Amino acid sequence: DADYEKKLLELKSKIKSFPDFPKPGILFWDIFSAISDGPTCKLLQSLLVQTVKAKFPEVEAVIGLESRGFLFSFALAAELGIGCLPVRKKGKLPGEVVSYKYELEYGTDVLELQKNTIRPGLKCLIVDDLIATGGSITAATQLLKSSGADVIGCLLVIELTSLQGRHNIPKGIPVHSLIKYD
Ligand code: PRP
Ligand code: MG
Repeated sequence: DADYEKKLLELKSKIKSFPDFPKPGILFWDIFSAISDGPTCKLLQSLLVQTVKAKFPEVEAVIGLESRGFLFSFALAAELGIGCLPVRKKGKLPGEVVSYKYELEYGTDVLELQKNTIRPGLKCLIVDDLIATGGSITAATQLLKSSGADVIGCLLVIELTSLQGRHNIPKGIPVHSLIKYD
C-alpha cells in the first residue's frame, strides 16, 4: 500500500553508497549507514516484519547469512517469535554441523549449519542485507536442502539488479528484495 511504499522510499534515502570500495570500480551500498540512525532502524525492522507477514506467512525459522545477514535475521526472528539460525563459514559453529562446499571464482568455500536446529521440512526463510551475484544465497539454499529443510524463500534489504543474481537462485525459490539499485 501507499504507506509501505513511502516507508521504502524513506529507507532508500538513508542508504549511502561508497564508490571504489572495497576495490576500484566497485560501488558499495552500505546498510550500516542506514541503521546508525535510530528511527531508520525501527523503520527497517517494521518493513521486514510487514514483508514477511505478507509474503512468507508460513515461515518457521529465519536463516541469517554471516555476517551482515545476522542483524536482520535476529530482528525478524525476535519479532515473529521463531528461531534464528546462523549459516556460518567453516569451523565457527560448535556441535554437529551440516556442511556444504561450493566453488568461488578462485578456490572453494564451506558453509555450515548446526544439525540439531533443523528438522525435516522446517520452513526456512533466508535473510541477508544484499544480493549481488546470488552466490551466497545459492550456497545457503543448497546447504539447507541437504539438511532436509524446506527453503520457502529469500528476503534481502538490497538487490543489485544489473548483476542478475536472482536468476542464479535455484528455480522455484521466491526472492524478495525491499530496495533495488542498478
Ligand atoms: C556480502 C553481502 C552478501 C553477499 C552478496 O557479504 O553481505 O552476503 O556479499 O554477494 P553475492 O550475492 O555475490 O553472494 P560479504 O561476503 O562481503 O561479507 P559480510 O556480510 O561478512 O560483510
Ligand atoms: Mg554478507
